[in-house]
Amino acid sequence: MSASREDLKQRLLAQARRRPRPAAAPSVGDAKPPEEHGAVSEHLTRFDAHPAYQQIALIREGARRLGLSDPFFKVHEGIAGATSRIDGRDCLNFASYNYLGLSGDPRINQAACDAVARHGTSVSASRMVAGERPIHGELEQAIAEAYQAEDAVAFVSGHATNVSTLGYLMGPRDLILHDEYIHNSALVGAQLSGARRIAFPHNDPDALEALLARHRHQFERTLIVIEGLYSMDGDVPALPRFIEIKRRHRAWLMVDEAHSFGVLGQHGLGLREHFGVASEAVDIWMGTLSKSLAGCGGYIAGSRALVEMLRYLAPGFLYSVGLPAQVAAPALAALRLMRQEPERVARLHEISRYFLERARALELDTGHSIGAAVVPVIVGSSPLAARLSHALYEQGINVQPILHPAVPEQSARLRFFLCCDHTPQQVDTTLDALITALKEA
Ligand SMILES: Cc1ncc(COP(=O)(O)O)c(C=O)c1O
Repeated sequence: MSASREDLKQRLLAQARRRPRPAAAPSVGDAKPPEEHGAVSEHLTRFDAHPAYQQIALIREGARRLGLSDPFFKVHEGIAGATSRIDGRDCLNFASYNYLGLSGDPRINQAACDAVARHGTSVSASRMVAGERPIHGELEQAIAEAYQAEDAVAFVSGHATNVSTLGYLMGPRDLILHDEYIHNSALVGAQLSGARRIAFPHNDPDALEALLARHRHQFERTLIVIEGLYSMDGDVPALPRFIEIKRRHRAWLMVDEAHSFGVLGQHGLGLREHFGVASEAVDIWMGTLSKSLAGCGGYIAGSRALVEMLRYLAPGFLYSVGLPAQVAAPALAALRLMRQEPERVARLHEISRYFLERARALELDTGHSIGAAVVPVIVGSSPLAARLSHALYEQGINVQPILHPAVPEQSARLRFFLCCDHTPQQVDTTLDALITALKEA
């Protein structure tokens, strides 16, 4: 450093020492020597003093006091389907989204092995620059066909699909209206977009209509976001009503089919099939490859213009790696098997209905679940939900508790995910064990 710059630095440092310093965290690139950070409180420099970490510590401490083990991050040692091996024990499993039992199917595994043998394990970069593999186009074409849509595009993550699509498509002059229970990925995308964001009460088209009447005219584009099957409650939106409203108010409608594709409709084709509506009545069909389709990733299906725009410009597609072939291939194989073996969807419907009816007969509170793959049992207290999950796990039944703040305290619950391979006997055993645990609690 030259003499004059050194001199200037010393003068600035001396000035700074005299000036009271706000207790803010140093910004990235702050070049002051370490002793100059003395006025920054120690707790602002520690991860274990971060409010998020403290929240986790508080939950852990609560669980420890109740004598419960951590119900999260359990290690499944084999294939997680209707059953799973956890901690060296075979369990009944109601905590996976393997709705059609296709993750682990030997034919799906083989598709992954064949793809990896042909293309290796990575496509290395964005498909735009590092190139496509044939499986990308085949998968997207199959998704577009399933939706009877003009085109489809697949992203490497379902979460990134929503973040990128909403974040890119909408802007500060636009309005996003979403169901209050919408998934975090859509919320993050909406926030990223800079659009005005308003939540409407869950599954309440009248409330949506009132918001549109009040706000629509102040904005350029308007997007309504709903889910095909809500994963906390297992209920569905009245799609025809939402379509009618969005048409009248000249808005776009986006349906997140993460949990409804593969589950709803006679052939598992989702909310569209469930209500028998035309594909183009919804502007943006979104879904994930990670649940019924036994893979990983997400997709958007819709008009050619929409898909092309996302393919060329959506950051999570353009600036992120393409789906590895061994991930795309099993998802495509799963989609084909779902269509060739509609009995899987029929079995899923049957066992889900059986679970719902049995639970209702036992006077358990299943909320608004329609009995399609997702059935909550609402117990009204987070500690009780945690205790019940623990008690069932002790008996070899794996089911997740959903605790406050994920849901309001009075709606704390156990959430059961059904798979087409569950049997009525497994459901009976589980519900009987739950009733016993409830009596003991
Ligand atoms: C409704 C909904 N949308 C999007 C996602 C994100 O999908 P993925 O986990 O495949 O990234 C999820 C994940 O569970 C979801 O439930």
